[in-house]
Amino acid sequence: MPLLIRGGRIITATRDERADVYAADETISRIEPSISATSLPSDTVVVDATNRLVFPGFIDPHVHIHLPFMGTNAADDHDTATQAALAGGTTTVIEMICPGPQDEPLSAFESWRQLAAAKAHCDFTFHQAVVRFDALAREQLRGLVQSRGVASFKVFLAYKGALDISDSDLLALLEMSRDLGVIVTAHCENADAVAHLQAAMIAAGNKSPKFHEPSRPVWVEADGVNHFATFAGLTRAHGYIVHTSCDAALQQAALARGRGVSLWVEAVIPHLVLDASHVERPDFEGAKFVMSPPLRTKADQDALWRAVASREVSTIGTDHAPFHFGSQKQLGRCAEPAGSNAVAGRTNAGGGAAAGATGDFTKIPNGIGSIQERVDLVHTFGVVAGRINYQTMVDACSTQAARIFGMYPRKGDIAIGSDADLVVYDPNAVSRFCKADSLSALDYCAYEGMERVGRCETVTLRGRIVARNGKYIGGVGGGRYLPRTPSHFAQ
Ligand code: URP
Ligand code: ZN
Ligand code: ZN
Repeated sequence: MPLLIRGGRIITATRDERADVYAADETISRIEPSISATSLPSDTVVVDATNRLVFPGFIDPHVHIHLPFMGTNAADDHDTATQAALAGGTTTVIEMICPGPQDEPLSAFESWRQLAAAKAHCDFTFHQAVVRFDALAREQLRGLVQSRGVASFKVFLAYKGALDISDSDLLALLEMSRDLGVIVTAHCENADAVAHLQAAMIAAGNKSPKFHEPSRPVWVEADGVNHFATFAGLTRAHGYIVHTSCDAALQQAALARGRGVSLWVEAVIPHLVLDASHVERPDFEGAKFVMSPPLRTKADQDALWRAVASREVSTIGTDHAPFHFGSQKQLGRCAEPAGSNAVAGRTNAGGGAAAGATGDFTKIPNGIGSIQERVDLVHTFGVVAGRINYQTMVDACSTQAARIFGMYPRKGDIAIGSDADLVVYDPNAVSRFCKADSLSALDYCAYEGMERVGRCETVTLRGRIVARNGKYIGGVGGGRYLPRTPSHFAQ
């Protein structure tokens, strides 16, 4: 049915104007100061956006939905994760396909795509993680780019023995990606340094969640960023650093860009809003906040926000990676004796032996869920707090992801011909984040009790209303795979 959004304040990455928006079908066909409903087909759905903001649908450039990781599987499926995404204003997600080292890239792509196609309610596309890079894998990765619409790869410098890539494979992959015009996204932490520090922590009896951060200090991440940026520069490939958590890492990225490396930087919402003190919560509650790179200091948080404001950080994603507190996070359970640092034991991302009586922070599945909360968190802690303006919010949470990953202008803008993915937003609604409002399957909300200013009132996907006031109302399925072409990066 045709859609008219009337009386709203349109906010894009470059515009702020009062206008009505009309979509006769899936795409926007008119943007005008005033569109009379009487001139439109009688079945037009009219949404009153008076005193509301109208944003382009938000894009999350970094989510994990199907994620076999650390001996378990992430808690959401494409049904729950994408309902949550839409309720929170995210109309497109880029999911990481993370196969194991023995898996073939092509079959991994097909199984992830089938899982998403069967259940996703929002539009989706993928970053293909490269965990294996033998002759067969190379051939298949080329094929994924040339015939399946994959336009971005993902590498892990971290997670030794499970997902990490060797230096020689990384160089060869970057060269291949440069030739294909594909951008390589990277988790930048030095895997050997992390493994070394984890072993030292555990040997010293430092096993509780609060030792996760010191086992992956900022310099380990900064070293990873420098390493990846050096290789991207040597190969003249295009790189994108995911979930940058700290000032030291930002500085390495800035240095690399200063010497001409083609590099983009992503921040994710947990690092912008939560800090290392959350991991210190008693009774093992800190495990809820174990992710990698770890939550850092408030000073690092401030540096990240400054970099978002200056646009040195291009995108804000979530790194949605939900693991239940009541069961999955308990894999690293530690009964912390009073007055002691002690808790439990493990080493790599592949998970492994049971935690045993003493527990072990290295066995806690890494990740935090935020897919529904991101937009309201950026509004509350970014715009309302005076750290960024609305243009930057839209640019970081939608437009840049569309541009960098080859979806613009179909996604990421309110423009004639763009998909009618729209968010009618009430910037004055005040409430608190809570698990009860969450559509994710995850059994806790990492932002529980924090004040929330703003609310997605109406969310449309390609002209269809799919969410209202935090509830998904879009029916079954409807999410579409977005094949992409890497040509805009080709040299
Ligand atoms: O802790 C995290 N970030 N878990 C998800 C996997 C990853 O490294 O992105
Ligand atoms: Zn990562
Ligand atoms: Zn991730």
